[in-house]
Amino acid sequence: MKLWGGRFTKETNQLVHNFNESLSFDQKFYRQDIQGSIAHVTMLAKQGILSHEDETVIIDGLKGILSDIEEGKLEIQPGAEDIHSFVEEKLTERVGEAGKRLHTGRSRNDQVALDMKLYTRDQVKEMDHLLYQLLQELLKIMEENLDTYMPGFTHLQKAQPITLAHHIGAYYEMFTRDRSRLHDIYERMNYCPLGSGALAGTTYPLDRAYTAQLLDFYGPTLNSMDSVADRDYLLELLSAMSIISMHLSRFCEEIIIWNTNEYRFVEIDDSYSTGSSIMPQKKNPDIAELIRGKTGRVYGALVSLLTTMKGLPLAYNKDMQEDKELTFDAIDTVKGCILLFTGMISSMTFRKDVMEASAKNGFTNATDAADYLVKHGVPFRDAHGIVGQLVLFCLDKGIALDDMTLEEFKSISPVFEEDVYEAISMKTCVEKRTTIGAPGKEAMKQVIAIYKKQLEE
Ligand code: ARG
Repeated sequence: MKLWGGRFTKETNQLVHNFNESLSFDQKFYRQDIQGSIAHVTMLAKQGILSHEDETVIIDGLKGILSDIEEGKLEIQPGAEDIHSFVEEKLTERVGEAGKRLHTGRSRNDQVALDMKLYTRDQVKEMDHLLYQLLQELLKIMEENLDTYMPGFTHLQKAQPITLAHHIGAYYEMFTRDRSRLHDIYERMNYCPLGSGALAGTTYPLDRAYTAQLLDFYGPTLNSMDSVADRDYLLELLSAMSIISMHLSRFCEEIIIWNTNEYRFVEIDDSYSTGSSIMPQKKNPDIAELIRGKTGRVYGALVSLLTTMKGLPLAYNKDMQEDKELTFDAIDTVKGCILLFTGMISSMTFRKDVMEASAKNGFTNATDAADYLVKHGVPFRDAHGIVGQLVLFCLDKGIALDDMTLEEFKSISPVFEEDVYEAISMKTCVEKRTTIGAPGKEAMKQVIAIYKKQLEE
């Protein structure tokens, strides 16, 4: 049954139906569609637009449809044009005349705007919770690794010593910003479009504020044209999800590098790795690679919807039906990635000894050796040159700065004394960095205390 058969004299061409229908994907929000209808009917009855008898019959009917779908007693089979038509058709089948009054003072344009918002709003909360769980996991790793020294990199070249806690903390910041973006989106999107009609409101005395309140919105939207034509909140969410994916992808890239035989900084757990069908020795970081790979798909969704929206005149246009599949796919993808990433990182082994050895062997304490000379009166530019010579000497012998004898130090500069070893130890190099935001243990502890408090809020 069509919601609009009246003015037509011919059946819809089957290919046209198949091309036009959205039931195959918008059935995802059957729950929200029914929830919205119940609120709408409650408001219609309160306003005297619908009798209380009809209200009861319709709401009981809708609740019956909902529970039958959830219990698998009612299958959403192809045929109807969209989920809105499906629910209304089932309702009328079940409760008769009253069912036909459900759509009073409403259009599918404000209905679909509402359903999509209700669905997305729940998803924003779920995604936020997944990020919260990831942050908890990262915080745990940070607390356990305040003294795990490792090289910090620039240009993927070993640069200065840091700790694993500090490195993980950088991602902690990124995912915290991601959560704050989701909160902003929620705040801006949480206004109810229902009651906007097709585009110009309705002549029925609807109480839009009441419907908004029933559905837990902050209030009704204020322009009926914008209400049915606005997909900004989806673009914002796709943008926030693109950034989340980018953060996960960078992290995965590092884990893939760290997990190689050359680095061996980490070992991904067997339960999160896969093997090769031909090479028996292989243990591949497929999950990290897939998360990195899926980023492209999420960016694609953002660019698709931006492109779909860019030329649309006000108000509703069917083009906007394209918002659904790509948004659903991006949401499912990103949620899956966060979940899998959390599992992978919490089961991963960090090889602390390898990390520390790598920091030592990469001259990450060279800047500190130069600072040592500066403290003993050598101008920085000269100190830089002297340490350059030390590095050349070590490279030649295949040793680290810490492995040089005092005589060797002195042969390059007489300023060096016994205390140089203490000054360039990984521990000293890191612990001296005590400004807030730096890797030194005390600074990190302060930051972790702030994170803990934020996470509790
Ligand atoms: N399936 C449609 C969508 O997703 C629902 C709105 C239909 N409105 C209309 N005027 N044809 O956008």
